[in-house]
Amino acid sequence: MNVVIVDREQQQSTYEVSDVQELFSTLGDEMKIDALCGGCCSCATCHVYLGDEYKHAVNEVAQDEQEILDGLMHAAENSRLLCQMTLQTEIEHLEITIAPAE
Ligand code: FES
Repeated sequence: MNVVIVDREQQQSTYEVSDVQELFSTLGDEMKIDALCGGCCSCATCHVYLGDEYKHAVNEVAQDEQEILDGLMHAAENSRLLCQMTLQTEIEHLEITIAPAE
């Protein structure tokens, strides 16, 4: 899967990954996201905005994820925690913008 990422400096990069979990690890390794809780749905440092056209391709926001998102200053309708996102259908392309740090 091809993923276009717009980072906090508005720089665009493309990643070739097999799933969202690999993307999460890669962005963490590159320090594009802090991923402080390691994917436990508690720190929100993996907050991203998902392109609207890809909403159908990923899992729905669960209650614990929604509670974290509700507490964020920069939350938007298309906010997700990257660590909680999984693909529901096979897709070739995804576009994600990393949210500003809180
Ligand atoms: S890495 Fe902490 S909430 Fe996703």
